[in-house]
Amino acid sequence: MRSFIVSLLAGLSVSLACAQAAPEPAASAQQSAAPVGFVAPSAPQPDESNAQRAKTQPGNNAPFWRSVHESGVQHGVTNLPGAEKGVLIQPMVQYPGSRFTTAGEAWRQVRNQWIIPYGGSLIVITVLALALFYFSKGTLGGHEPYTGRLIERFTYFERAAHWCNAIAFSVLAISGLVMAFGKFLMQPVLGGTLFGWLTYALKTAHNFAGPLFAVSLLVVFFTFARDNLPNRHDLTWLLKGGGLFGGHEVPSERFNAGEKVVFWAGVFLLGFVVVASGLVLDQLLPGLAYLRGDMQIAHMIHAVATILMMVLFIGHIYMGTIGMKDAYRGMKTGMVDEGWAREHHELWYDDIKAGKIPAQRSTGASAGTAAATKPAAQH
Ligand code: HEM
Repeated sequence: MRSFIVSLLAGLSVSLACAQAAPEPAASAQQSAAPVGFVAPSAPQPDESNAQRAKTQPGNNAPFWRSVHESGVQHGVTNLPGAEKGVLIQPMVQYPGSRFTTAGEAWRQVRNQWIIPYGGSLIVITVLALALFYFSKGTLGGHEPYTGRLIERFTYFERAAHWCNAIAFSVLAISGLVMAFGKFLMQPVLGGTLFGWLTYALKTAHNFAGPLFAVSLLVVFFTFARDNLPNRHDLTWLLKGGGLFGGHEVPSERFNAGEKVVFWAGVFLLGFVVVASGLVLDQLLPGLAYLRGDMQIAHMIHAVATILMMVLFIGHIYMGTIGMKDAYRGMKTGMVDEGWAREHHELWYDDIKAGKIPAQRSTGASAGTAAATKPAAQH
């Protein structure tokens, strides 16, 4: 199977490479040096090296734009719609401490020299820190004996909202990471053609998953907001670091203070910034002109906020999978053992035991559900 996939990919890349290397007619070679849809009478004409490049790398407009940039030609005739019709490049400006350049070039440098290396390092540091934590502490939990009686932790609706959001997030995170870091990490391995196709497919997936993420995030926010409201127990939980280094977990209600931080910082604050800037990039917000400058600012905000969001949710995904015993089972089946509830959310368990919260809120029996409604055994 593996060798089949490898040979399929190899065959695809060879055939695409052959298609790329096929000789171009001289006329189309000249045209492909300029971008489709642009006619720039005052812009420099493609020279011999441009024409040569157009033959070997059709569609690569870099030489054309470099000469537009160098000659400072900003205006030409374009048949593209939009507020900046006729503008080939942004005006030349000089930012404090930098050379005379276009805003586009300044944006490119902020992206490539700040956001990519520092953002990438932050993600790698997060993953390494979690790996270190895992190898030193292992999976948390499992100290309280299970009773076999189950309590409903998440209703069907809560789980459906959560997983819609999580799937959309995963598609966005993977495609976003490839768009941001793939040129440096994957292109040298895959080659330009295969990487180009992959990025194009993932960029399209990103544009579609974005609105799904926005809607499901809103549903997740309203579904879980009430149980994430802060209370006095959260302060104790935070001051004691959740009891991580004390051997006993600090009692919490349905969600602990760590989960609440992820909720308010990740779902609410960063979620809002990421979705708003993403909708600008998708040109889905009404009433905006969508000038190049607007898009550059939206991109930088989007990139920084998504990196921070990924860092938070890498921690969340860790805790929801290998970091804590049976947490994933709760979100998968909706049910947790009484022992689990008592160990990780003792105040919530006490409220259920006291009858203040029903042990089952949705209809539809699953194994052990009936037992869950009975008072829990004392340990
Ligand atoms: C992609 C993989 C993900 C996995 C494996 C995962 C796993 C889990 C698990 C196991 C729980 C239950 C924790 C508990 O019982 O206390 C949970 C809760 C929750 N998850 Fe996720 N999750 C993922 C992604 C996301 C994303 C992308 C979001 C939102 C942007 C999110 C938002 C929440 C919320 C709001 C809760 C309820 C607890 C709280 O408010 O903190 N999850 N998740």
